Amino acid sequence: MHTMVYQEGQWYMEMESQDIKTESSSSDIDFSRINLGSGNTNFKGWLNVDVTRSAQMHVDLSDFPWPFPDECADELFASHILEHFNKEGGLRFLEECQRILKPGGSLRLAVPDLDIFINAMQGTEPEKVSGYRWTDLNHFMGGDARETNPYQRHKYMYTDGGLIHQLSQAGFDGIRRREPHALDSKQWVSFSLLMEAYK
Ligand SMILES: C[S@@+](CC[C@H](N)C(=O)[O-])C[C@H]1O[C@@H](n2cnc3c(N)ncnc32)[C@H](O)[C@@H]1O
Repeated sequence: MHTMVYQEGQWYMEMESQDIKTESSSSDIDFSRINLGSGNTNFKGWLNVDVTRSAQMHVDLSDFPWPFPDECADELFASHILEHFNKEGGLRFLEECQRILKPGGSLRLAVPDLDIFINAMQGTEPEKVSGYRWTDLNHFMGGDARETNPYQRHKYMYTDGGLIHQLSQAGFDGIRRREPHALDSKQWVSFSLLMEAYK
């Protein structure tokens, strides 16, 4: 297994099994489809980027600007990561997506849907959040101190209107709800706000 790591302005390829680190140039890397905040699953055909060491490319996406060239990507996928940034950081995240997308390129987003959580709390549609108890609402709202990994804590929640506003602030066009995609987690799709937008 190898991991791409960006340190002091330079990409390195780390070969875990052999403890080897070799310099790499960004022109060696295929940035056309990037999975931002990929978690532990490295999807084939995508550049899988996460702060976790098990990701194919190890990058802290709260360090702006990201170490990706302007207009390098045709498709971006960002599932359940935007809520791990506060409102300002989330806007900065979306502006970086805008910078690295080619004109006409797409961003597919998934975040927990705040409207679904409010409805479930009021007693309608509780099945959509099955598996989570109301004590877990603190986790979704970012206030759960049981979550000790700072990268796993939520910092902001989006309604449909809130996410549309942020995407248009960041310069996106063609903002609309989308259908589930092969990369969407089946576990979370029932309470996800799925949206796509274009540069
Ligand atoms: C809820 S998981 C979602 C994983 C995957 N995208 C999915 O939908 O199953 C959130 C992911 O965002 C990553 N993450 C949070 N903050 C990050 C940051 N600043 N830079 C890179 N990754 C981050 C976490 O490490 C975690 O893997």
